[in-house]
Amino acid sequence: MSDEINLSHCSFCGNSKEAVKKLVVGDKVAICSDCVELCQDLINDEQKEPEVVDQPQYDPEIICEYLKERVIGQDDAKKVLSVAIANHYKRITNPPKDLEIQKGNVLIVGPTGSGKTLLAKTAAQYLKVPFVVADATSLTEAGYVGDDVESMISMLVNAAGGDVSLAERGIVFVDEIDKIARKGESSSITRDVSGEGVQQALLKLIEGTTCRIPNQGGRKHPGSDMNEINTKNILFIAGGAFVGLKEIVAGREKGTSIGFSASIKDKTVEGDLSKVTPDDLTKFGMIPEFIGRFTTTVSIQNLSKEQLVKVLTEVKNNYISQYKYLFSLDNIKLEFTKEALELMAENTLKLKTGARGLHTEIERVLMPHMYHVRKYRENNITELNIDEGNVLDPKPLI
Ligand SMILES: Nc1ncnc2c1ncn2[C@@H]1O[C@H](COP(=O)(O)OP(=O)(O)O)[C@@H](O)[C@H]1O
Ligand SMILES: [Mg+2]
Repeated sequence: MSDEINLSHCSFCGNSKEAVKKLVVGDKVAICSDCVELCQDLINDEQKEPEVVDQPQYDPEIICEYLKERVIGQDDAKKVLSVAIANHYKRITNPPKDLEIQKGNVLIVGPTGSGKTLLAKTAAQYLKVPFVVADATSLTEAGYVGDDVESMISMLVNAAGGDVSLAERGIVFVDEIDKIARKGESSSITRDVSGEGVQQALLKLIEGTTCRIPNQGGRKHPGSDMNEINTKNILFIAGGAFVGLKEIVAGREKGTSIGFSASIKDKTVEGDLSKVTPDDLTKFGMIPEFIGRFTTTVSIQNLSKEQLVKVLTEVKNNYISQYKYLFSLDNIKLEFTKEALELMAENTLKLKTGARGLHTEIERVLMPHMYHVRKYRENNITELNIDEGNVLDPKPLI
């Protein structure tokens, strides 16, 4: 290449000195007034506010509508969660330039089988982002026997079908987070260490770090079989029953307010977890830095009998529809009386496993009929009406 530089032409657009208003000549380059103007425009554009992409899908009301069709009750939790995820996804699709917005992870507190996992899963389904559930009790600090926390990120990449950039905007639901609480001063040292250590390890992931995880199926090129995943945009939703937290909240409330203004709207509310503060969670045994990363805390309640009936019959993909379909494959029309449904809900309440127990209950009720379905067909039985009697004492029609 020749070193000769033609300084009678603009080095950028190539126009000659005569063709432009002004040509600024430097040591080895020349630039014309037109190109200077263009550059100035480019710089101005850069400094403008980022162009806001219209994102109707991140409208909390629309997200909440979607949740309502799939999750019964828990209205406050649905609203708060909708706002939290709308903000999170708005932010990561329009990252601010000179501003650090802290990620607002979500903590869901409430009894088992009331929809914590379902809420998180349904949100991920709406957002069409990969989703995994990890059990905090099986997590360990690196170097200990068990799954270290980075295994959650591997799972997320798998859920994203190996698509790292998709995984980087996924949702990790960490279940049973209350089980890694630091135990009180009175209990043994050994348990203390593991819980707190796992919280510390999780904290790093939640704050945002780069994980190197093995790339499944990437054996072809040695050296390239590790994937780097940045966790800064991954939304962490943690859930736990936090047994004993109510008492901590109640104790504090008693100490601070005279008359205890809490109004118990719903008979199923035992205490008021909606008033939980970060301090209460710290007292419970969560480390403050960890809790600090969960800017949104929502509480959910036990489902009432009426709500359990709705879980059976109203929610999308409800159990009754699923079993109706199964029986229809054998040409049998399955129906339940209102009383039968209520009795099943009552039986489920006794199990204290929330809506989770409904599945067990419906299996118990339908088992003899499912077992004898061939006999029903042979005897031209095309209708099965489940009433209270069938719930009390499930036995085959013939
Ligand atoms: N509020 C709810 N609305 C509809 N179904 C629910 C609800 N809560 C629980 N379920 C049902 O019970 C199952 C277990 O619920 P899950 O969300 O795992 O409970 P949790 O995580 O609170 O222990 C779900 O798969 C769902 O079928
Ligand atoms: Mg769960």
